[in-house]
Amino acid sequence: MSGAGLFISFEGIDGSGKSTQARILAEDLREKGREVVLTREPGGSAGAEEIRRLVLTGAGDRWSPETEVLLFTAARRDHLERVIAPALDRGAVVISDRFADSTRVYQGVGRADLRPLVDELHRLVIGREPDLTLLIDIDPAAGLARTGARGGGEARFESFGLALQERLRAGFLALAAEAPGRVTVIEGAHAPEVVAAEVARVVSARLS
Ligand code: TYD
Repeated sequence: MSGAGLFISFEGIDGSGKSTQARILAEDLREKGREVVLTREPGGSAGAEEIRRLVLTGAGDRWSPETEVLLFTAARRDHLERVIAPALDRGAVVISDRFADSTRVYQGVGRADLRPLVDELHRLVIGREPDLTLLIDIDPAAGLARTGARGGGEARFESFGLALQERLRAGFLALAAEAPGRVTVIEGAHAPEVVAAEVARVVSARLS
């Protein structure tokens, strides 16, 4: 399922600005003539979007942590099979707003003993990492201020608060340190166009 395209994921805590950056990068690469598939997790395929509704709405204790890992992984498998792998096989650039690192960090934080389950499921049914992961790093207080202003019904994780966002940030930075060849940390506190310029620089170095 590797293919000839380029698989890029954006990661970061809630409100890091990664969705904006993913969109800007997609437009930029399309202008340069590349076929780009801009997608997101949880979701990105019809079935995975249905699972997204299940995991992101409702009470904070709607699912046990173990069930949540299974749901996110099921959504990812469908997304990979139906959208990501076919696009990479066509030679497209796939830009995913979140991928497996989000499960490692969000479901692993607070329940470190779940990381083996996350890793084993990934090995069994996903087995693919992005070629490049851009971690948009931001101070959680600044991120939370952004998501608070956004509103909407999918606040199950964001409702967990600042202390959790601090631990998520540390979790993402630890992953980046574990996989420095794949994950590049981008300073997210600057203006969107400044962050976008840095993203473009890193991606064009990878494409050339
Ligand atoms: P979303 O509205 O896409 O938030 P964001 O713009 O911050 O990406 O909601 C995704 C939420 O789901 C977010 O809080 C992170 C969480 N999540 C997990 O807990 N595990 C996962 O594997 C993924 C992909 C997302």
